[in-house]
Amino acid sequence: MEKTVPFIPTPIKVIEAALDLAKVGPGDLVYDLGSGDGRVVVLAAKLRGARAIGVEIDPALVILSEMKVKEEGLEDKVKILQKDFRKVDVSEATVLYLYIYYDVIKNYLMDKLYQLKPGARVVTLEIPVPGWMPVAKRGVQDENGVVRTLYLYIKGISEPEAWVNDIADEEWMKEFRRRLWGISSPNS
Ligand SMILES: C[S@@+](CC[C@H](N)C(=O)[O-])C[C@H]1O[C@@H](n2cnc3c(N)ncnc32)[C@H](O)[C@@H]1O
Repeated sequence: MEKTVPFIPTPIKVIEAALDLAKVGPGDLVYDLGSGDGRVVVLAAKLRGARAIGVEIDPALVILSEMKVKEEGLEDKVKILQKDFRKVDVSEATVLYLYIYYDVIKNYLMDKLYQLKPGARVVTLEIPVPGWMPVAKRGVQDENGVVRTLYLYIKGISEPEAWVNDIADEEWMKEFRRRLWGISSPNS
């Protein structure tokens, strides 16, 4: 199995901002593809009550993550899969977190993004999703004062195929806006 990206952890403050940006809550299933030491999935469960799945190829990082999950008593909410993320089905994810290279997203993960359900959120750190339009972009200072960039995408809105459709009146979109943003359209 091939490691496509080295382990560079997301700073904790940036993870908190990512959870805010995607409005992660107890109803969510969060995936982190290339989950490193498990910090994103652990915080999604610990701070937001979400279920979360980390996918990590490096066995040492998988052990470290599982220790963290156990330490926090989050075994019922967080699972770590020791797998190549290119071979994992993420279609059930409601939130997908990616901190990996542009070329890896482009060459291996675009089909997975297309398999997400309408309304699923994709949050990326530093790296935009090729060809997709972010619905939000946020600069966040990490613990060292360095500004890091988070992008938020929403399946059904962000991909080019969605731009030609009038999705405002679709039921899932109305429900999505009500639930996530508290916005109602005049006739919903
Ligand atoms: C930049 S780090 C991000 C870690 C974590 N998501 C975070 O934000 O703190 C990328 C991670 O992807 C893992 N990785 C690289 N190639 C992988 C692959 N093909 N399948 C699963 N994990 C992989 C690396 O071992 C590394 O831990």
